[in-house]
Amino acid sequence: MVIIDNFCNSKPEVINRIQKITGKTVALIQGDVRDKVFLGTVFKQHAIKAVIHFAGLKAVAESVANPLRYYDNNVMGSLALVEVMTEFNVKNLVFSSSATVYGFSDTKPIPETAPLSPFNPYGHTKRMVEQILEDLSASDSAWNIALLRYFNPVGAHESGMIGEDPNGIPNNLMPYVSQVAAGKLKELSIFGNDYPTVDGTGVRDYIHVVDLALGHVAALNVLDKNCGLLTVNLGAGHGYSVLELVHTFQEVTGRAIPYRIVERRAGDIAMYFADATLAKQKLAWQTQRDLADICRDAWHWQSQNPQGYS
Ligand code: UD1
Repeated sequence: MVIIDNFCNSKPEVINRIQKITGKTVALIQGDVRDKVFLGTVFKQHAIKAVIHFAGLKAVAESVANPLRYYDNNVMGSLALVEVMTEFNVKNLVFSSSATVYGFSDTKPIPETAPLSPFNPYGHTKRMVEQILEDLSASDSAWNIALLRYFNPVGAHESGMIGEDPNGIPNNLMPYVSQVAAGKLKELSIFGNDYPTVDGTGVRDYIHVVDLALGHVAALNVLDKNCGLLTVNLGAGHGYSVLELVHTFQEVTGRAIPYRIVERRAGDIAMYFADATLAKQKLAWQTQRDLADICRDAWHWQSQNPQGYS
C-alpha cells in the first residue's frame, strides 16, 4: 500500500501510528495530488490496482473565504489524478464525496436519488468531481468508481492512537466538544436552539470514522467485481441533535461540557441524516458503532493526545 500526502492538514506521525495499529509497512510519499509528473512517478514505481482519493479540503467557511483554493485543490487535483490513472490503466477509484451535495434537501432521511443542490464552494467542488467521474464512467466501462457520500464523520480509532487533530480552534462539533472536555476551550457555543428538531438544536448523522473506513474496504471489494459507477451514502441512517451528543459525551466520559446557546451559524441546515439502505444492499455494509462508542473513542484520543500529534 502507498499513501501520498502533502501534509497541508495532517502529520507524518499518523503513518507511524497506522503501522503500529495494523502491523503493516506503509510506503509514504510526500507530494501533491495536483502534480501529474509526481503522480506519474508513483504509478511507475508501484503496482497500483486501485486508488482511494481522500485528498480534499473540507472546511466550509474556508471555502467561502478562499474558493479558488478549493476549486484548485479539490477539482484540479481530482482531474490530475484520473488523468494519470487513465495513463497507467488503473481504473478502480473510491472518491470521498459528501452529503453536502444534497444542500437544503427537504427529504429526510436522504436517499441517493434526492435532488442535488450544494450551496457553498466546498459543496460545489464535491459535486463537480462527482459529475466528472460520472461522465468518465459513462465514456469508458472499464472504470469502476464508488462515490461515497459521507455524512458527519467523527470519533477516533479505538486504540486512541489516531484521531482528529485540527489546526487551530476546531470548526466542527466533535473536536470542539473534546477540547472543552479537556479544558483547552472554556465552553461550547451551540449554534441555535430554535430549529424545528427534537430539542431545537441541529440534527446530524454522525458516523464513527472506523465504520467509515470499513465502508471504503467494502467499496473496494465491490469495485473488484466490475460494478461500474456506484453512488452511496455512508451514514448511520439516523440523526442526533447537538444536545443529545453533548449529553451522551458527558455520560460516557464523566466530563462536564459547559455550553451556551448562541445565534445560528450562517449556512447551517436544521437536520439531515442518511437513508442508509443502499449501502447495505450494494456494499453489504452498515454502521456497527453508536453515538456512545463515538464519544468514548473521541475522548480516548483527546485525553491520550492533548497536543494532537505534536
Ligand atoms: C459540515 C459540512 C460537511 C463537512 C463537515 C466537516 C455542509 C452542509 N456540511 O458539516 O459536508 O463534511 O462540515 O467539515 O456543508 N455546532 C455547534 N457548535 C459548534 C460546532 C457545530 O453547535 O461549535 C453544530 C452545528 O450547528 C451543526 C452540528 O453542530 O448543527 C454539526 O456541525 P459540524 O460538526 O460543523 O458539521 P456540519 O456543519 O454538519
